[in-house]
Amino acid sequence: MWIRNAWYVAAWTHEIEPGRINSRTIIDQPLVLYRTADGAIVALEDRCPHRFAPLSMGRLEGDDLRCMYHGLKFAPDGKCLEIPGQKLIPRSACVRRYPLQVVGSWVWVWMGEADKADPAIIPPSLALDDPAWRLQAGQLDYDADYLLIDDNLLDLSHLSFTHEKTLGLDMPQWADERPRTVPLERGLRFQRWLRNHPPRGFMRKLGERVDVWNSYDFLFPGVFLQRTGFYPAGTADRSDGKAPECEPLFHRVDEQAVTPVGRRASRYFYAVGTRAQDIDPGKLERLFDVTTVAFHEDKRIIEAQQKLIDLEPGRAMLPTSLDAGPTQFRKLVDTMAP
Ligand code: FES
Ligand SMILES: [Fe+2]
Repeated sequence: MWIRNAWYVAAWTHEIEPGRINSRTIIDQPLVLYRTADGAIVALEDRCPHRFAPLSMGRLEGDDLRCMYHGLKFAPDGKCLEIPGQKLIPRSACVRRYPLQVVGSWVWVWMGEADKADPAIIPPSLALDDPAWRLQAGQLDYDADYLLIDDNLLDLSHLSFTHEKTLGLDMPQWADERPRTVPLERGLRFQRWLRNHPPRGFMRKLGERVDVWNSYDFLFPGVFLQRTGFYPAGTADRSDGKAPECEPLFHRVDEQAVTPVGRRASRYFYAVGTRAQDIDPGKLERLFDVTTVAFHEDKRIIEAQQKLIDLEPGRAMLPTSLDAGPTQFRKLVDTMAP
């Protein structure tokens, strides 16, 4: 059962280029997105009301979109402007327009009742060109239920195993210690120290050992906003296990959004980076590449997991203390379901 009254990430803003028609699917609903001359992005249902041809196979005419099956033309607000060979345009001749907002570099679409769309609840995310940060963005398509990807992001213990040679290298603490979890209105916050970590690669310059403060908010439907600060060893103890008050030596940022496309299809948007002063562009590329390799490690195991789940859908899983985050989040999702 889909949760319609929610904002979903449809695209990176740079994907919606002027003059181009884009088709997307969110919770099994086909959408067509394009920019009007003033740069605003429009999201309409990708279905001509006449005979249901996709409008994404149509033609942009200024700010309007013409269906290229029999030629009906629609304004950006969804109203029909022209029916070839017919003067009368019935009021019912319109396409559904979806509320849309741009926050940071993500295009958010509200899939439910338009009068309930509140932009204030859209999670805050960084713009890719924010001068304080250096960020690189990617995306990945999954043949899996979005909730399995959410589970993965709600339990970072898998870093020590799934990513033992990438993101979790020399960090058994991810699996051996549990984060502190705080409930949020539409999600959960996770915070923890990972003590006495030997930095690798270009981070060696930080010292022999560092303490790592990891904090992220995870919000419906699958928005992951993470900050990871690297501090001199001993900072965790001096902070009494709480959030550090000093500036980190190195500050990594990860922002991701999981969008359900269909029951077994999801799109995963991700950006990785650091404060601008922490890294030069060449090294950012390396950080991005390692992260992308790691995300393929997730994809491989989650898609395989999905296949086994679908072989025997009713079979019960074995609960462990690792599952606290995923379990709490699924309870929250259940309360949002119509
Ligand atoms: S299906 Fe669009 S004009 Fe006929
Ligand atoms: Fe992962």
